[in-house]
Amino acid sequence: MIELEEVWRTYRLGGEPIHALAGISERIEAGEHVAIMGPSGSGKSTLLHVLGCLDRPTAGSYRLDGQDVTQLEDDALAELRGHRIGFVFQAYHLVARLSAEANVELPMVFLGVPRGERRRRAAAALEAVGLLDRRRHRPAELSGGQRQRVAIARATVMRPRLLLADEPTGNLDSAAGAQVLDLLDQLHAEGITLVVVTHDPEVARRAGRVLVLRDGRVAARLAGSELGGLERALGRGKPGP
Ligand SMILES: Nc1ncnc2c1ncn2[C@@H]1O[C@H](COP(=O)(O)OP(=O)(O)O)[C@@H](O)[C@H]1O
Ligand SMILES: [Mg+2]
Repeated sequence: MIELEEVWRTYRLGGEPIHALAGISERIEAGEHVAIMGPSGSGKSTLLHVLGCLDRPTAGSYRLDGQDVTQLEDDALAELRGHRIGFVFQAYHLVARLSAEANVELPMVFLGVPRGERRRRAAAALEAVGLLDRRRHRPAELSGGQRQRVAIARATVMRPRLLLADEPTGNLDSAAGAQVLDLLDQLHAEGITLVVVTHDPEVARRAGRVLVLRDGRVAARLAGSELGGLERALGRGKPGP
């Protein structure tokens, strides 16, 4: 589904260029669940933005479902993003003055989905995250976990095949975080391709595969199940029976 070849993303702010991504080549198959880890500044968010077509590589190619998206005009990219990709951010990025329902409808407004269908899809998406009864609430009237579940409803309302999440539990306590992770697992079980950026080994171990970034490169590839051993080795795992 995803084919990156020698992808670079370079920032030039005068002075030395910063290579946020420094030659990443990677394939992610449809239906995979991949976690991206790595120290702060290693390029995790930049990579996710490139995968989500929110940012373009400076060099290299990105093929999504066989199509080179680096060649697409902005309009075509926005259309593709709206239909095929969902994005979940650490800080939710909901519109404060809009209800949960209106937030979920927003991407469909941009895509020109008729009003009746918007209503129907938004209600179904909110029901799927267990928040239909909160649909008239504004973000400020919801807990952090509920806000993130509204954000997941918004990200999945067009039934994208690819869902990208950047530290989706970074602002949540462990109970709310677990609820969000269970939802993501459920979406993955239903067939969505899931890529999650996290610094939390507990989050990453749910993934089938873990990419560890360092200085804009893939420094290691692990199986999600290998992280249990890693945590124990670091003395951070839960004590055994
Ligand atoms: N808009 C930007 N302008 C300049 N440099 C940036 C910008 N965004 C990110 N960077 C730099 O690119 C590198 C990777 O950043 P980022 O992808 O946000 O890392 P991570 O998410 O792993 O913490 C960092 O050195 C960061 O300072
Ligand atoms: Mg980041």
